[in-house]
Amino acid sequence: MYIGVDYYPEQWPKTRWSEDVRMMKELGINVVRIAEFGWSLMEPEEGTYDFSLYDEAIELFAKNGIDVVLGTPTATPPAWMVRRYPDILPVDENGITISFGARRHYTVNSTTYQEFSKKIVNEMAKRYGQHPAVIGWQTDNEYGHEKSDRSYGDEDRARFQDWLKEQYGTLEKLNETWGTVFWSQTYTEWEQIPVPRKVYQEHNPSLLLDFDRFCAEAYNRYNRLQVDELKKHIDERQFITHNFVYTGLALNQKEMAKDLDFISFDNYPVWGGLPEPITPGNIARQHDLCRGTKSGKGYWVMEELSGAQGWSRIGYLPRPGHLQLWTYQAISRGAEAIVYFRWRAARFGTEEFCHGILDHDGKPKRKFDEVKKVIENMKVFGDDWIAADYKADVAVYHDPENDWAWQIQPQSEMFNYVNEFLRFYEPAYAVNAITDIISEVEELNSYKVVVVPVYFLTKPGFTDKLKAYANAGGTVILTYRSGVKDEHNVVTDQTLPGDLAEIAGIEVNEYESLQSGQVNQVEGVQGAIEGIMSDATVWCDLVDPVTAEVLAEYRNTFYSGQAAITRNRTGKGTVYYVGSAVEPAMLRPLYKEVLADAGVATVETPENVEVLFRGESGSEFMSVLNHDTDAAHSFELPEGKWQDPVTGEVYEGTFEIGSLGSIVLKKQQ
Ligand code: GAL
Repeated sequence: MYIGVDYYPEQWPKTRWSEDVRMMKELGINVVRIAEFGWSLMEPEEGTYDFSLYDEAIELFAKNGIDVVLGTPTATPPAWMVRRYPDILPVDENGITISFGARRHYTVNSTTYQEFSKKIVNEMAKRYGQHPAVIGWQTDNEYGHEKSDRSYGDEDRARFQDWLKEQYGTLEKLNETWGTVFWSQTYTEWEQIPVPRKVYQEHNPSLLLDFDRFCAEAYNRYNRLQVDELKKHIDERQFITHNFVYTGLALNQKEMAKDLDFISFDNYPVWGGLPEPITPGNIARQHDLCRGTKSGKGYWVMEELSGAQGWSRIGYLPRPGHLQLWTYQAISRGAEAIVYFRWRAARFGTEEFCHGILDHDGKPKRKFDEVKKVIENMKVFGDDWIAADYKADVAVYHDPENDWAWQIQPQSEMFNYVNEFLRFYEPAYAVNAITDIISEVEELNSYKVVVVPVYFLTKPGFTDKLKAYANAGGTVILTYRSGVKDEHNVVTDQTLPGDLAEIAGIEVNEYESLQSGQVNQVEGVQGAIEGIMSDATVWCDLVDPVTAEVLAEYRNTFYSGQAAITRNRTGKGTVYYVGSAVEPAMLRPLYKEVLADAGVATVETPENVEVLFRGESGSEFMSVLNHDTDAAHSFELPEGKWQDPVTGEVYEGTFEIGSLGSIVLKKQQ
């Protein structure tokens, strides 16, 4: 298994390099990622290339048996380029050109920038494409991150218009689809169509969604351009990947992944001014998204946080135990390699307060010892653990386009797509059901339960799959605001939940958006949630059962007594509809019952204790991860004897795990 660090040889005197390499070997790492911000060194002036610094660094690693992943440096176009070719700069929605001075200051739609990118990538590929120590490539760095996903300049607009021509063929079709008759927006020439810069009110939602699709495709094309250049020269043995972030960007990772050998992800459970890490379920969500991006293929964590991070504001100091915990969590969910960010904190530049395994003084201390222990432990598992199957019973649907549609029209000031996704993902996570995050292209038959959170923007193919799956015996959980829009972001003319009304056995004839401070109440009236009261926030669908039975009802306002949660038997299957943003206190018991009825294996653990299984039943690995920073917790191990391969100790029955403890146990035959 590869475990490594992100290293920046250009930020340190060469006299320090050999000491760094010596310490890396002592730590046990076997790979470094380098060079992703090194353009001004590689091409100090237009057309003049100088790779001497990286040649030397790579030789040093090669000599010491450390493999290298090379980043292409296109996230940081150099100052000379920006001064001579300012047309490469992106433009924000207010029409303001983004300045040189940080990173990601380019638009993928600039033909000038595309040419420069091709050349530098080509030069790098020629130089290192056959180097035995170079095992692979990372294109650019975090495409679209830090608001660089959308650009609204003149060249962007021209490319957007070209893209629309390809999509719609005729202006009549575009006008009809978008409904441009509204507010006199009928276009008679392609050149009239704007990029959605600032307006007094709000743009046409269909235009906005198409703009996001266009931005995502433009990034895909740009990435493909780099991949094509690399492939002209690199050895077959070298891989090509990209380090994604999953923050609702106008980026379609799944589409881009088709051009990559595998994908990578940058895992920062806490960053900048956050007072504490995001919830463990939220970290798990990102790993699941990542594994789902290339349909279950393993992935790398190309940046795994190892120290406090932040620019002008320094964030949370990871506690003793966190590094192993987050590493184990990543591997438990499918990561095949871990690269820690970063080897050592820089002494200068915007990121001088992004700490690494080493701090500014370069001395090995607590974090070094912790990573060393993780690496020693990983040696005991060999590749058995990372190669073991990951087999999910529960699928949770995610479509970036649905996310964009919600960003365009959140409909309630309380709505946040990630929070609402988590609302309907976490109850499955909380009982340690094994989850996949899927998109419209996956088959559903292998899952026992399919959860479809806030399915606002629908896709005809997926809706049909859901109906067939439910009728054939599957269990589906639908939520409020399902079936509202077609794929062009236009509202359906059917009674809600539109195409899903029949399998849900309900009609939604009225609904209400709740703003901050507005709360309704929902009370369970049947089954596991009977007698449970919950706040209902964000949104209330007033559900009229047709063939469905009522599981919970509203208790306030004029719709007190109206159904809020229902269950419908359809064909051989079951469809639940949760009509409001109810609390975990209601969703957890509901999910427990749904999962039990569907035959999904779950494990009861205390809050913040995560358990995950990989491998064949009977010889599986079970990770136990206690995310609680303050308290140890106990729970009942699943039946049988479980061995810690590191210490050889065998456990059964009640198991205690210390605060921030993490352990991997193997089932004894
Ligand atoms: C990542 C980025 C790195 C570095 C890091 C700081 O998002 O890829 O280059 O900026 O954040 O924590």
